[in-house]
Amino acid sequence: MTIPQKVKIVEVGPRDGLQNEAQSVPIEVKIRLIEKLVDAGLPVVESGAFVSPKWVPQMASSGDVFAGIEKRAGVSYPMLVPNMKGLEAAIEAGVEEIAVFAAASETFSQRNINCSIEESLERFRDVAKKASAENLRIRGYISCVLGCPYEGEVSIETVSEVAARLLDQGCYEISLGDTIGVGTADRAQALVERVSKTVPVSQLAAHFHDTYGQGLANLYAVLQSGISVIDSSVAGLGGCPYAKGASGNVATEDVVYMLDGMNIETGVDMQKLLDAGQYINEFLGRESASRAALALSKK
Ligand code: HMG
Ligand code: MG
Repeated sequence: MTIPQKVKIVEVGPRDGLQNEAQSVPIEVKIRLIEKLVDAGLPVVESGAFVSPKWVPQMASSGDVFAGIEKRAGVSYPMLVPNMKGLEAAIEAGVEEIAVFAAASETFSQRNINCSIEESLERFRDVAKKASAENLRIRGYISCVLGCPYEGEVSIETVSEVAARLLDQGCYEISLGDTIGVGTADRAQALVERVSKTVPVSQLAAHFHDTYGQGLANLYAVLQSGISVIDSSVAGLGGCPYAKGASGNVATEDVVYMLDGMNIETGVDMQKLLDAGQYINEFLGRESASRAALALSKK
């Protein structure tokens, strides 16, 4: 397998990054961040989640955020949807792409969406049917693909089965979430090799949190197995509220620095990306979690 010459980066900062923030981020700040990320050349910017505001208060403004974005042609602004109620809100808002999210660990599924894996997949089947009828694109996530905060080890076979079910329901892409960033390069690669026997590798994405500092190494490993879609979060923002101790996704700046250095095309302008990261860091009053951003900003 040769390394792809082009990688699509799915920016998840405005959703995965901000969902865990304790301080409420105003709608205008979220909109500005999303527009800056699009301006930097990111083709997909996950912009929010139609989930229960009791479960994730920060995402309660997602409808207003979506309405306020000056949309750019050719850019996708997906929103997370956990159930029919979320889908109805997405349709009403005029969303064109949704993401459903399942898990490969029963306990995580219960903690995150209050139902079993099977129940969630049954729910998504109905959600996907209606979404397809409305011409929405559907992306699927699987959490805990390389380990669970509650159960520890997770079976690769379970990941593979959940991936096959999501694909069958109409997801155009399955994003493999190392929710707590415990994976290492060999295991990340073995996972992709196994799951790609069920789902073509061109329809798989890597969604690696960087909790143990393994994000880039794991991405490098899965690039060798043909992965060409990478999820990342500007300034390394984030974490999952139902995965205690999980830190943000691998930082978009770090990913772009690595891919630029490997002459892999992303279409992202590093300077503008740094500007987007600086914007949100200044608002949150913290230093970037991206090593590349820190180094480049000192130049
Ligand atoms: P539940 O309590 O079982 O839901 O939660 P319910 O159907 O019994 O409803 C309870 C209440 O929530 C009702 O309101 C519903 O109307 C309301 P009440 O009558 O009490 O006032 N409700 C909703 N409100 C707004 N939007 C909705 C919605 N659904 C119900 N869509 C539920 C089940 C799925 C709703 C809840 O567990 C939930 O919202 N979970 C989301 C958790 C979440 O967002 N987690 C983070 C995202 S996943 C992630 O980060 C991982 C990922 O990045 C990949 C990786 O890294 O692994 C994707
Ligand atoms: Mg995540």
